[in-house]
Amino acid sequence: MTHYLGIDIGTSGTKTLLIDESGKVLAEADANYRLHQPKPGWTEQDPEDWWNATIKTVRKVMKIAGVSADSVRAIGLSGQMHGSVFLDQKDRVIRNALLWNDQRTTAECEQITSAAGGRKQLIKMVANPALTGFQAPKILWLRNREPANFKRLAKVLLPKDEIRRRLTGDYITEVSDASGTLLLDVVKRKWSKKLMDRLKLDMNLLPRVVESEDVTGTLTAEAAKKLGLSTSCKVVGGAGDCAAGAIGNGVVKQGILSTSIGTSGVMFVHSDQPEYDTAGRLHTFCHAVRGKWHMMGVNLTSGGSLQWWVDSILQGLKGVNAKNRYEAATEEAAAIAAGSNGLVFLPYLNGERTPHADPNARGSFVGLNLSHNRGHLTRAVMEGITFALKDSLDIIQSLDVPVRQIRASGGGSKNPLWRQMQADVFGKKITTLEVEQGPAYGVALLAAVGNGQYRSIEDACKASIQIAEQTSPDRKSAKAYKQTFPIYRELYAQLNNSMHALSALQSDA
Ligand code: XUL
Repeated sequence: MTHYLGIDIGTSGTKTLLIDESGKVLAEADANYRLHQPKPGWTEQDPEDWWNATIKTVRKVMKIAGVSADSVRAIGLSGQMHGSVFLDQKDRVIRNALLWNDQRTTAECEQITSAAGGRKQLIKMVANPALTGFQAPKILWLRNREPANFKRLAKVLLPKDEIRRRLTGDYITEVSDASGTLLLDVVKRKWSKKLMDRLKLDMNLLPRVVESEDVTGTLTAEAAKKLGLSTSCKVVGGAGDCAAGAIGNGVVKQGILSTSIGTSGVMFVHSDQPEYDTAGRLHTFCHAVRGKWHMMGVNLTSGGSLQWWVDSILQGLKGVNAKNRYEAATEEAAAIAAGSNGLVFLPYLNGERTPHADPNARGSFVGLNLSHNRGHLTRAVMEGITFALKDSLDIIQSLDVPVRQIRASGGGSKNPLWRQMQADVFGKKITTLEVEQGPAYGVALLAAVGNGQYRSIEDACKASIQIAEQTSPDRKSAKAYKQTFPIYRELYAQLNNSMHALSALQSDA
């Protein structure tokens, strides 16, 4: 028997799973780590934590599955996108990595846009505008704000690619994650030397870039020993967590779109050609399918808003015990009618990416009255998160990208209330899968393709992914959302000045 590992270096933790050659999951394990927030809007992690979680979870799945080290033929890597691991000449990590939801680089984004000759020119070069979370502005931030650290800089890697370096000793990334650096010519699927030159950055800072299913190396003796695997085990390119999650959902052909609610919220659509949103609200990235692309909209604090609401605010409240906090809270929300009796929540707790690209947007409840109880507020939070996804869906549809099927994943597929809410808010059927495993599963399939188990990732998905059920919109609730959504949509513009003024007053206290 042949086995494959998928490892996903997420924001709250690392998830590893082991599959057999038919795609069946034999074991899975998670290990969490800390998120550092040294200032408001700053998010950082220590790559050493990712590495320790990788070792721990690989060892755990091997123990649970009880398979031999030699049977694990390939590993696929996935991870939170956009982060910056800064390495010196001796591969020492210079400082904590800045993450995808870090908001410190507004000035650097302006610097990049102007160096490129304006926003339009930049989008022409790398298919996307400069956004605070992307990797390129983080490199300039290091140069501008920590020049001593920048002097030591020899390589910049994305989170999962730092784990690859520790596994194989090579500096390599792949097209889907590289797209989120803002330094990839997304159409040509290679680094943009033109932009690197304009930014006066050395091409040697960047790793080699390959397609997602390509084999990038085998385990070093040291890594094999630490993980309890064989040195002949291959490591394939893998994918950024959005493309990896989409593969795990079988989103590998035109017309299929997926939504994913994790810390971030992602609306992802496959595309055979590199389609653009000229306004730059959606990202145009390479897909982890060879020679294909995707567009996506990203909400920065999606499931993260519900987590904040349940863990920080409802925590310790009467009738909500720690064990079933989410269940209890969403049960209360399910008892409330669609529209939360005229209450709207804006989920911009850490700024927002799609569609506003505004690091200083802030969250709010609008419309509170004395009749509202805890259930209304929880429901409004979930509705606000779903409205934010609809913002992306509407942009996708306005670009005439065909949408035949929407597949829900993450928190949005596991929770029945959220499945129904998505069907009602989008006004479309929502499809869920038989077994939904997310990004780690997607890259385990890429590992199988890289090892020659399947001819292509499309074949791998066909063989291993089955649709389980469909949820249709409820007429009454869909009608209620048709009234609330336009109000939600107007609120950002109306509150924008106040959000910015309040964000300027906020400290890390
Ligand atoms: C995608 C993005 C997030 C992170 C979260 O552009 O920023 O989805 O990848 O892990």
